[in-house]
Amino acid sequence: MNTDKIRQEIRGLSDGKLFFNNAGSSLMPNIVVDSMIDYLRQEEQLGGYEVANRNAELLDNCYAETARLINCKPSNIAFMTSATEAFAKALSSIIFEEGDTIITTVDDYISNQITFISLQKRLNINLLRIKKLENNELDLEELENLIKEHHPKLVAVTHIPTNSGLIQDIEAVGKICRQYDVLYLADCCQSVGQMVVDVDKIGCDFLTATGRKFMRGPRGSGFLYVSDRVLEQDYAPILLDMRGAHWSEYDNYELFKTAKRFEHWEVSYAAVLGMMEAVKYANTIGLNTIENYNRKLAETLRTNLKNSSFKVLDIGKNLSSIVTFCGPDNDLENIQKVLRENNVFFSVSYKNSALIDFTDKKVDGAVRLSPHYFNTLEEVEKVSEVLRNSLL
Ligand SMILES: Cc1ncc(COP(=O)(O)O)c(C=O)c1O
Repeated sequence: MNTDKIRQEIRGLSDGKLFFNNAGSSLMPNIVVDSMIDYLRQEEQLGGYEVANRNAELLDNCYAETARLINCKPSNIAFMTSATEAFAKALSSIIFEEGDTIITTVDDYISNQITFISLQKRLNINLLRIKKLENNELDLEELENLIKEHHPKLVAVTHIPTNSGLIQDIEAVGKICRQYDVLYLADCCQSVGQMVVDVDKIGCDFLTATGRKFMRGPRGSGFLYVSDRVLEQDYAPILLDMRGAHWSEYDNYELFKTAKRFEHWEVSYAAVLGMMEAVKYANTIGLNTIENYNRKLAETLRTNLKNSSFKVLDIGKNLSSIVTFCGPDNDLENIQKVLRENNVFFSVSYKNSALIDFTDKKVDGAVRLSPHYFNTLEEVEKVSEVLRNSLL
Protein backbone atom coordinates (compact mmCIF):
# COMPACT_ATOMS: atom_id res chain seq x y z
CA MET A 1 0.00 0.00 0.00
CA ASN A 2 1.39 3.38 -1.04
CA THR A 3 0.26 5.78 1.69
CA ASP A 4 1.91 8.81 0.03
CA LYS A 5 -0.02 8.21 -3.18
CA ILE A 6 -3.25 7.61 -1.26
CA ARG A 7 -2.78 10.89 0.61
CA GLN A 8 -2.11 12.77 -2.64
CA GLU A 9 -5.43 11.47 -3.88
CA ILE A 10 -7.32 13.29 -1.09
CA ARG A 11 -7.78 17.02 -1.75
CA GLY A 12 -9.25 17.31 1.75
CA LEU A 13 -5.84 16.71 3.32
CA SER A 14 -4.09 19.55 1.51
CA ASP A 15 -4.36 21.99 4.45
CA GLY A 16 -2.46 19.77 6.87
CA LYS A 17 -5.36 18.83 9.12
CA LEU A 18 -5.12 15.71 11.29
CA PHE A 19 -8.19 13.78 10.19
CA PHE A 20 -9.31 11.15 12.71
CA ASN A 21 -13.07 10.98 12.20
CA ASN A 22 -13.48 8.08 9.78
CA ALA A 23 -16.11 6.48 12.00
CA GLY A 24 -18.14 9.68 11.58
CA SER A 25 -17.73 10.71 7.98
CA SER A 26 -14.42 10.10 6.23
CA LEU A 27 -12.56 12.07 3.56
CA MET A 28 -13.48 10.87 0.08
CA PRO A 29 -10.83 10.01 -2.52
CA ASN A 30 -10.74 12.58 -5.36
CA ILE A 31 -12.08 10.01 -7.83
CA VAL A 32 -15.27 9.66 -5.78
CA VAL A 33 -16.02 13.37 -5.83
CA ASP A 34 -14.92 13.85 -9.46
CA SER A 35 -17.07 11.02 -10.77
CA MET A 36 -20.12 12.33 -8.91
CA ILE A 37 -19.62 15.87 -10.21
CA ASP A 38 -19.12 14.56 -13.72
CA TYR A 39 -22.34 12.55 -13.47
CA LEU A 40 -24.28 15.56 -12.17
CA ARG A 41 -22.87 17.68 -15.03
CA GLN A 42 -24.30 15.11 -17.45
CA GLU A 43 -27.67 15.29 -15.66
CA GLU A 44 -27.49 19.07 -15.93
CA GLN A 45 -27.24 18.79 -19.70
CA LEU A 46 -29.41 15.79 -20.50
CA GLY A 47 -31.79 15.20 -17.62
CA GLY A 48 -31.45 12.30 -15.20
CA TYR A 49 -33.32 9.62 -17.17
CA GLU A 50 -31.24 9.98 -20.30
CA VAL A 51 -27.99 9.91 -18.31
CA ALA A 52 -29.08 6.79 -16.43
CA ASN A 53 -29.85 5.10 -19.78
CA ARG A 54 -26.50 6.06 -21.24
CA ASN A 55 -24.66 4.84 -18.12
CA ALA A 56 -26.70 1.67 -17.59
CA GLU A 57 -23.72 -0.67 -17.79
CA LEU A 58 -21.60 1.43 -15.43
CA LEU A 59 -24.43 1.66 -12.90
CA ASP A 60 -25.05 -2.06 -13.14
CA ASN A 61 -21.41 -2.65 -12.34
CA CYS A 62 -21.96 -0.96 -8.94
CA TYR A 63 -23.66 -4.17 -7.76
CA ALA A 64 -20.74 -6.36 -8.83
CA GLU A 65 -18.14 -4.10 -7.21
CA THR A 66 -20.05 -3.99 -3.92
CA ALA A 67 -20.65 -7.74 -4.02
CA ARG A 68 -16.88 -8.24 -4.37
CA LEU A 69 -16.35 -6.20 -1.19
CA ILE A 70 -18.36 -8.57 1.02
CA ASN A 71 -18.05 -11.80 -0.99
CA CYS A 72 -21.55 -12.31 -2.38
CA LYS A 73 -23.35 -12.13 -5.70
CA PRO A 74 -24.52 -8.86 -7.29
CA SER A 75 -28.09 -10.15 -6.93
CA ASN A 76 -27.74 -9.99 -3.12
CA ILE A 77 -27.08 -6.24 -3.08
CA ALA A 78 -29.60 -3.39 -2.77
CA PHE A 79 -28.48 0.24 -2.72
CA MET A 80 -29.72 2.40 0.14
CA THR A 81 -29.36 5.97 1.27
CA SER A 82 -27.97 4.94 4.68
CA ALA A 83 -27.40 2.01 7.00
CA THR A 84 -30.52 3.04 8.88
CA GLU A 85 -32.63 2.81 5.74
CA ALA A 86 -31.15 -0.64 5.08
CA PHE A 87 -31.96 -1.69 8.66
CA ALA A 88 -35.53 -0.36 8.49
CA LYS A 89 -36.22 -2.03 5.14
CA ALA A 90 -34.84 -5.34 6.38
CA LEU A 91 -36.90 -5.22 9.57
CA SER A 92 -40.01 -4.21 7.66
CA SER A 93 -39.78 -7.44 5.66
CA ILE A 94 -40.21 -9.53 8.79
CA ILE A 95 -43.78 -10.04 9.93
CA PHE A 96 -43.58 -9.48 13.68
CA GLU A 97 -46.48 -10.51 15.83
CA GLU A 98 -47.32 -9.84 19.44
CA GLY A 99 -45.05 -11.80 21.74
CA ASP A 100 -42.30 -12.43 19.16
CA THR A 101 -38.75 -12.20 20.49
CA ILE A 102 -35.83 -10.16 19.15
CA ILE A 103 -32.38 -10.85 20.56
CA THR A 104 -29.73 -8.14 20.36
CA THR A 105 -26.74 -6.91 22.39
CA VAL A 106 -26.23 -4.13 24.93
CA ASP A 107 -23.76 -2.52 22.50
CA ASP A 108 -25.97 -2.33 19.44
CA TYR A 109 -26.39 1.02 17.72
CA ILE A 110 -28.63 3.64 19.37
CA SER A 111 -31.07 3.83 16.41
CA ASN A 112 -31.37 0.04 16.27
CA GLN A 113 -32.21 -0.01 19.99
CA ILE A 114 -34.83 2.71 19.48
CA THR A 115 -36.39 0.74 16.60
CA PHE A 116 -36.58 -2.38 18.77
CA ILE A 117 -38.10 -0.41 21.65
CA SER A 118 -40.64 1.04 19.21
CA LEU A 119 -41.59 -2.49 18.13
CA GLN A 120 -41.79 -3.43 21.79
CA LYS A 121 -44.19 -0.53 22.45
CA ARG A 122 -46.36 -1.09 19.35
CA LEU A 123 -46.40 -4.86 19.02
CA ASN A 124 -45.45 -6.05 22.46
CA ILE A 125 -42.24 -7.59 21.14
CA ASN A 126 -40.07 -9.33 23.70
CA LEU A 127 -36.64 -7.62 23.51
CA LEU A 128 -33.70 -9.52 24.97
CA ARG A 129 -30.05 -8.44 25.13
CA ILE A 130 -27.27 -11.01 25.27
CA LYS A 131 -25.21 -10.73 28.45
CA LYS A 132 -21.47 -10.14 28.26
CA LEU A 133 -18.69 -12.14 29.83
CA GLU A 134 -16.10 -10.62 32.20
CA ASN A 135 -13.82 -9.91 29.23
CA ASN A 136 -16.57 -7.90 27.46
CA GLU A 137 -17.17 -10.63 24.82
CA LEU A 138 -20.69 -11.85 24.06
CA ASP A 139 -21.84 -14.79 26.17
CA LEU A 140 -22.50 -17.21 23.30
CA GLU A 141 -23.65 -19.99 25.60
CA GLU A 142 -26.36 -17.65 26.90
CA LEU A 143 -27.31 -16.75 23.31
CA GLU A 144 -27.81 -20.42 22.50
CA ASN A 145 -29.93 -20.91 25.62
CA LEU A 146 -32.03 -17.83 24.79
CA ILE A 147 -32.62 -19.11 21.27
CA LYS A 148 -33.66 -22.54 22.56
CA GLU A 149 -36.02 -21.03 25.11
CA HIS A 150 -37.57 -18.13 23.13
CA HIS A 151 -37.33 -19.18 19.45
CA PRO A 152 -36.65 -15.56 18.37
CA LYS A 153 -37.88 -14.09 15.09
CA LEU A 154 -34.58 -12.22 14.75
CA VAL A 155 -31.08 -11.99 16.16
CA ALA A 156 -29.42 -8.63 15.42
CA VAL A 157 -25.81 -7.79 16.27
CA THR A 158 -23.75 -4.69 15.53
CA HIS A 159 -20.29 -5.81 14.38
CA ILE A 160 -18.42 -2.73 15.63
CA PRO A 161 -20.37 -0.52 18.02
CA THR A 162 -20.16 3.22 17.31
CA ASN A 163 -18.93 4.16 20.73
CA SER A 164 -16.48 1.45 21.71
CA GLY A 165 -13.52 -0.15 20.01
CA LEU A 166 -15.08 -3.59 20.38
CA ILE A 167 -15.31 -6.04 17.47
CA GLN A 168 -18.13 -8.51 18.16
CA ASP A 169 -17.66 -12.12 17.07
CA ILE A 170 -20.44 -12.00 14.47
CA GLU A 171 -19.21 -15.18 12.81
CA ALA A 172 -19.71 -17.18 16.01
CA VAL A 173 -23.20 -15.66 16.39
CA GLY A 174 -23.90 -16.61 12.76
CA LYS A 175 -22.99 -20.26 13.39
CA ILE A 176 -25.51 -20.47 16.21
CA CYS A 177 -28.22 -18.73 14.16
CA ARG A 178 -27.66 -21.11 11.27
CA GLN A 179 -27.74 -24.11 13.60
CA TYR A 180 -31.17 -23.06 14.93
CA ASP A 181 -32.40 -21.54 11.65
CA VAL A 182 -32.99 -18.07 13.07
CA LEU A 183 -33.04 -14.89 10.96
CA TYR A 184 -29.84 -12.98 11.57
CA LEU A 185 -29.03 -9.33 10.85
CA ALA A 186 -25.46 -8.02 11.11
CA ASP A 187 -25.04 -4.24 11.32
CA CYS A 188 -21.66 -3.76 9.66
CA CYS A 189 -21.94 0.01 9.31
CA GLN A 190 -18.59 0.62 11.03
CA SER A 191 -16.72 -2.44 9.79
CA VAL A 192 -17.31 -2.39 6.02
CA GLY A 193 -14.33 -0.57 4.51
CA GLN A 194 -12.37 -0.82 7.75
CA MET A 195 -11.65 -4.56 7.66
CA VAL A 196 -12.48 -7.79 5.89
CA VAL A 197 -16.22 -8.48 6.02
CA ASP A 198 -17.29 -11.76 4.42
CA VAL A 199 -20.99 -12.68 4.40
CA ASP A 200 -20.17 -16.28 3.65
CA LYS A 201 -18.30 -16.55 6.94
CA ILE A 202 -20.79 -14.45 8.90
CA GLY A 203 -23.78 -16.50 7.73
CA CYS A 204 -26.18 -13.57 8.06
CA ASP A 205 -29.49 -13.03 6.28
CA PHE A 206 -29.22 -9.26 6.22
CA LEU A 207 -26.16 -7.02 6.42
CA THR A 208 -26.39 -3.24 6.63
CA ALA A 209 -23.70 -0.73 5.67
CA THR A 210 -23.24 2.96 5.01
CA GLY A 211 -21.12 4.78 2.42
CA ARG A 212 -19.65 7.79 4.19
CA LYS A 213 -17.69 6.17 7.04
CA PHE A 214 -14.77 3.76 6.63
CA MET A 215 -15.89 3.08 3.05
CA ARG A 216 -15.04 6.72 2.20
CA GLY A 217 -18.06 7.24 -0.03
CA PRO A 218 -20.49 10.15 -0.14
CA ARG A 219 -23.21 10.99 2.36
CA GLY A 220 -26.62 9.58 1.45
CA SER A 221 -25.23 6.25 0.29
CA GLY A 222 -25.24 2.76 1.74
CA PHE A 223 -26.32 -0.78 0.97
CA LEU A 224 -28.21 -3.80 2.19
CA TYR A 225 -27.12 -7.40 1.64
CA VAL A 226 -29.96 -9.94 1.48
CA SER A 227 -29.19 -13.65 1.51
CA ASP A 228 -30.50 -16.08 -1.13
CA ARG A 229 -32.32 -17.93 1.63
CA VAL A 230 -34.36 -14.84 2.45
CA LEU A 231 -34.92 -13.89 -1.20
CA GLU A 232 -36.16 -17.38 -2.01
CA GLN A 233 -38.67 -17.13 0.84
CA ASP A 234 -40.10 -13.94 -0.74
CA TYR A 235 -39.14 -11.54 2.03
CA ALA A 236 -39.76 -7.98 0.83
CA PRO A 237 -40.15 -4.59 2.50
CA ILE A 238 -43.68 -3.91 3.69
CA LEU A 239 -43.92 -0.67 1.67
CA LEU A 240 -42.87 -2.13 -1.64
CA ASP A 241 -42.79 -0.08 -4.84
CA MET A 242 -42.34 -0.75 -8.57
CA ARG A 243 -38.64 -1.35 -8.06
CA GLY A 244 -39.59 -4.46 -6.13
CA ALA A 245 -42.41 -6.01 -8.09
CA HIS A 246 -44.20 -6.30 -11.41
CA TRP A 247 -47.88 -5.18 -11.23
CA SER A 248 -49.33 -8.26 -12.92
CA GLU A 249 -53.05 -8.13 -12.06
CA TYR A 250 -55.42 -5.47 -10.70
CA ASP A 251 -54.93 -6.79 -7.19
CA ASN A 252 -51.69 -8.65 -7.40
CA TYR A 253 -47.99 -8.32 -8.22
CA GLU A 254 -45.02 -10.60 -8.83
CA LEU A 255 -41.92 -9.98 -6.75
CA PHE A 256 -38.67 -9.43 -8.61
CA LYS A 257 -36.06 -12.04 -7.83
CA THR A 258 -33.06 -10.03 -6.63
CA ALA A 259 -32.30 -7.91 -3.58
CA LYS A 260 -33.14 -4.84 -5.67
CA ARG A 261 -36.69 -5.44 -4.46
CA PHE A 262 -35.55 -3.76 -1.22
CA GLU A 263 -34.74 -0.52 -3.08
CA HIS A 264 -37.14 2.24 -3.99
CA TRP A 265 -37.37 3.24 -7.63
CA GLU A 266 -35.95 6.73 -7.19
CA VAL A 267 -32.29 6.93 -6.24
CA SER A 268 -29.46 9.43 -6.55
CA TYR A 269 -27.34 7.67 -9.16
CA ALA A 270 -24.56 10.19 -8.54
CA ALA A 271 -24.40 8.93 -4.93
CA VAL A 272 -24.52 5.28 -6.02
CA LEU A 273 -21.71 5.91 -8.48
CA GLY A 274 -19.68 7.76 -5.85
CA MET A 275 -20.06 4.87 -3.44
CA MET A 276 -19.06 2.42 -6.16
CA GLU A 277 -15.86 4.38 -6.81
CA ALA A 278 -15.11 4.34 -3.08
CA VAL A 279 -15.72 0.58 -2.89
CA LYS A 280 -13.52 0.01 -5.95
CA TYR A 281 -10.78 2.10 -4.35
CA ALA A 282 -10.87 -0.06 -1.20
CA ASN A 283 -11.12 -3.31 -3.18
CA THR A 284 -8.06 -2.33 -5.21
CA ILE A 285 -5.96 -1.76 -2.10
CA GLY A 286 -7.36 -4.91 -0.49
CA LEU A 287 -9.31 -5.12 2.73
CA ASN A 288 -6.75 -7.42 4.33
CA THR A 289 -4.03 -4.82 3.83
CA ILE A 290 -6.31 -2.06 5.13
CA GLU A 291 -7.28 -4.10 8.20
CA ASN A 292 -3.69 -4.92 9.18
CA TYR A 293 -2.52 -1.34 8.73
CA ASN A 294 -5.49 0.05 10.68
CA ARG A 295 -4.82 -2.33 13.56
CA LYS A 296 -1.29 -0.95 13.89
CA LEU A 297 -2.52 2.67 13.93
CA ALA A 298 -5.20 2.01 16.54
CA GLU A 299 -2.95 -0.10 18.78
CA THR A 300 -0.26 2.60 18.77
CA LEU A 301 -2.82 5.26 19.60
CA ARG A 302 -4.31 3.26 22.47
CA THR A 303 -0.87 2.53 23.93
CA ASN A 304 0.11 6.21 23.75
CA LEU A 305 -3.13 7.30 25.41
CA LYS A 306 -2.77 4.75 28.21
CA ASN A 307 0.85 5.78 28.78
CA SER A 308 -0.31 9.38 29.17
CA SER A 309 -2.89 8.30 31.78
CA PHE A 310 -6.02 8.83 29.67
CA LYS A 311 -8.85 6.40 30.38
CA VAL A 312 -9.09 4.22 27.27
CA LEU A 313 -12.63 2.84 27.24
CA ASP A 314 -12.24 0.08 24.65
CA ILE A 315 -12.38 -3.36 26.23
CA GLY A 316 -12.19 -6.64 24.29
CA LYS A 317 -10.02 -9.34 22.76
CA ASN A 318 -10.30 -7.84 19.26
CA LEU A 319 -10.35 -4.09 19.01
CA SER A 320 -11.10 -1.95 16.00
CA SER A 321 -10.02 1.36 14.52
CA ILE A 322 -12.43 3.16 16.81
CA VAL A 323 -10.52 4.49 19.82
CA THR A 324 -12.61 5.90 22.66
CA PHE A 325 -11.30 7.60 25.76
CA CYS A 326 -11.77 10.36 28.28
CA GLY A 327 -9.49 12.28 30.62
CA PRO A 328 -8.16 10.77 33.89
CA ASP A 329 -10.98 12.63 35.71
CA ASN A 330 -13.56 11.69 32.98
CA ASP A 331 -12.97 15.06 31.26
CA LEU A 332 -14.39 15.46 27.75
CA GLU A 333 -14.59 19.24 27.39
CA ASN A 334 -10.93 20.24 27.70
CA ILE A 335 -9.85 17.42 25.38
CA GLN A 336 -12.25 18.64 22.70
CA LYS A 337 -11.02 22.22 23.05
CA VAL A 338 -7.38 21.21 22.68
CA LEU A 339 -8.07 18.92 19.71
CA ARG A 340 -10.00 21.69 17.92
CA GLU A 341 -7.24 24.22 18.57
CA ASN A 342 -4.77 21.84 16.94
CA ASN A 343 -6.82 21.16 13.80
CA VAL A 344 -7.60 17.57 14.79
CA PHE A 345 -10.86 16.16 13.41
CA PHE A 346 -12.59 13.82 15.87
CA SER A 347 -16.00 13.20 17.38
CA VAL A 348 -17.50 12.92 20.82
CA SER A 349 -20.47 10.92 22.06
CA TYR A 350 -22.44 11.57 25.21
CA LYS A 351 -24.12 9.12 27.51
CA ASN A 352 -27.39 8.61 25.60
CA SER A 353 -25.60 7.41 22.46
CA ALA A 354 -24.49 4.27 24.26
CA LEU A 355 -26.71 4.32 27.31
CA ILE A 356 -25.98 0.84 28.65
CA ASP A 357 -22.26 0.74 27.79
CA PHE A 358 -21.45 4.21 29.17
CA THR A 359 -23.53 3.56 32.29
CA ASP A 360 -21.58 0.33 32.91
CA LYS A 361 -18.28 2.15 32.29
CA LYS A 362 -19.36 4.95 34.67
CA VAL A 363 -18.55 7.74 32.19
CA ASP A 364 -20.58 10.61 30.75
CA GLY A 365 -19.37 9.93 27.23
CA ALA A 366 -16.22 9.47 25.19
CA VAL A 367 -13.98 11.26 22.75
CA ARG A 368 -13.57 9.15 19.62
CA LEU A 369 -10.57 9.06 17.30
CA SER A 370 -10.93 6.72 14.35
CA PRO A 371 -7.80 6.42 12.20
CA HIS A 372 -7.93 4.87 8.75
CA TYR A 373 -5.43 3.67 6.15
CA PHE A 374 -4.61 7.14 4.82
CA ASN A 375 -3.40 8.20 8.27
CA THR A 376 0.25 7.70 9.16
CA LEU A 377 2.02 6.61 12.34
CA GLU A 378 3.56 10.10 12.42
CA GLU A 379 0.07 11.59 12.59
CA VAL A 380 -0.81 9.20 15.40
CA GLU A 381 2.28 10.41 17.30
CA LYS A 382 1.32 14.05 16.63
CA VAL A 383 -2.20 13.68 17.96
CA SER A 384 -0.85 11.71 20.95
CA GLU A 385 1.52 14.56 21.74
CA VAL A 386 -1.24 17.16 21.47
CA LEU A 387 -3.26 15.13 23.97
CA ARG A 388 -0.31 14.53 26.27
CA ASN A 389 0.36 18.28 26.38
CA SER A 390 -3.28 18.95 27.23
CA LEU A 391 -2.72 17.28 30.61
CA LEU A 392 0.27 19.45 31.57
C1 LIG B 1 -22.98 0.77 14.13
C2 LIG B 1 -23.82 1.74 13.37
N1 LIG B 1 -24.95 1.31 12.80
C3 LIG B 1 -25.73 2.13 12.10
C4 LIG B 1 -25.40 3.46 11.95
C5 LIG B 1 -26.33 4.34 11.16
O1 LIG B 1 -25.75 4.69 9.94
P1 LIG B 1 -26.46 5.76 9.01
O2 LIG B 1 -26.33 7.07 9.75
O3 LIG B 1 -25.73 5.72 7.73
O4 LIG B 1 -27.87 5.39 8.89
C6 LIG B 1 -24.24 3.97 12.53
C7 LIG B 1 -23.90 5.39 12.40
O5 LIG B 1 -23.09 5.92 13.11
C8 LIG B 1 -23.42 3.07 13.24
O6 LIG B 1 -22.28 3.47 13.80
